[in-house]
Amino acid sequence: MAKEKIALLGGNGMLGTDIAGLCTKNNLDVTVFDLPQWDITVDEDIKKAVDSADIIINCAAYTNVDLAESQYDLACKINAQAVAELAEMIRKNNKYLIHISTDFVFDGQSSEPYKETDAPNPINAYGRSKLAGEQAVIDSRCDYCIVRIQWTFGHAGNNFVKKVIERAANIKNVKVVDDQIGSPTATTEAAKILLQLAKQKPKGLFHLAADGFVSRYQMAQFIFDYLKIQVDLSPCKTADFNSPADRPLNSRFNCDKIKSLSAINIPTWQDQLTSFLAQLKS
Ligand SMILES: NC(=O)c1ccc[n+]([C@@H]2O[C@H](COP(=O)([O-])OP(=O)(O)OC[C@H]3O[C@@H](n4cnc5c(N)ncnc54)[C@H](OP(=O)(O)O)[C@@H]3O)[C@@H](O)[C@H]2O)c1
Repeated sequence: MAKEKIALLGGNGMLGTDIAGLCTKNNLDVTVFDLPQWDITVDEDIKKAVDSADIIINCAAYTNVDLAESQYDLACKINAQAVAELAEMIRKNNKYLIHISTDFVFDGQSSEPYKETDAPNPINAYGRSKLAGEQAVIDSRCDYCIVRIQWTFGHAGNNFVKKVIERAANIKNVKVVDDQIGSPTATTEAAKILLQLAKQKPKGLFHLAADGFVSRYQMAQFIFDYLKIQVDLSPCKTADFNSPADRPLNSRFNCDKIKSLSAINIPTWQDQLTSFLAQLKS
């Protein structure tokens, strides 16, 4: 059987870079599509990517959560309208789509980890644009799997781990919120699971996050302890920050559904973060 071709949209972003690297390592046939040469909002570009592959992994997204409050139309153009066009073209051509989404589709008010069957209710513009993208994929009736991820960190992008280390280098008293709870997830681990999904082609919605839960404050403490960074760390509340976008307090996912697929192994957040920090140190 001929090797299946993968089109990786947004393949130069934080998650995309690690998927591309793993594809190359595993000798998979992958082509990266990303700005500035390729734009998901341009129909001919979508067609080019869909025509080139059997499996399309969509990591392309407008991801600036705070700026999305004032650029909602642009966020929707990239995260929803372009995704509707992509999914429609995938349906017409009988291809398979893996679309990446986010915990920000939820309001974070639940006292339980979120299941795929829980009703979304985004509390910021980015979350609304991503939810509209999910709905567009579902409405298209293409062969899809939507994978919601959360609290990701990787070498190729800006993320909480890098920001908190940078903050500690610049200021003595670091305050971190202790009322946002989630699962820090390495993009390298997410990439492994996404490529398993590309092999198995399951249909539907899946939650994917590292095993275990932690607050942002405890996560910062873990990072400083591991890297032996001396800093005066103190907890604060999300409400103390005047960010343009609201954040869900509970980002916890129930990942039983994805874990029930074969060959899916999800390490703990401590293991995932330790591997990342060890590489930063070396
Ligand atoms: N980071 C997180 O904590 C997190 C959490 C939950 C879900 N996610 C989701 O994970 C996915 C991957 O995000 P990420 O963390 O890898 O973010 P990222 O580093 O910002 O990657 C997004 C990629 O999409 C590209 N892009 C933006 N607009 C585009 C356009 N019009 N056409 C083509 N490409 C475009 C970006 O290019 P430029 O850099 O040039 O703009 C970038 O390469 C997204 O769906 C995101 O919503 C992320």
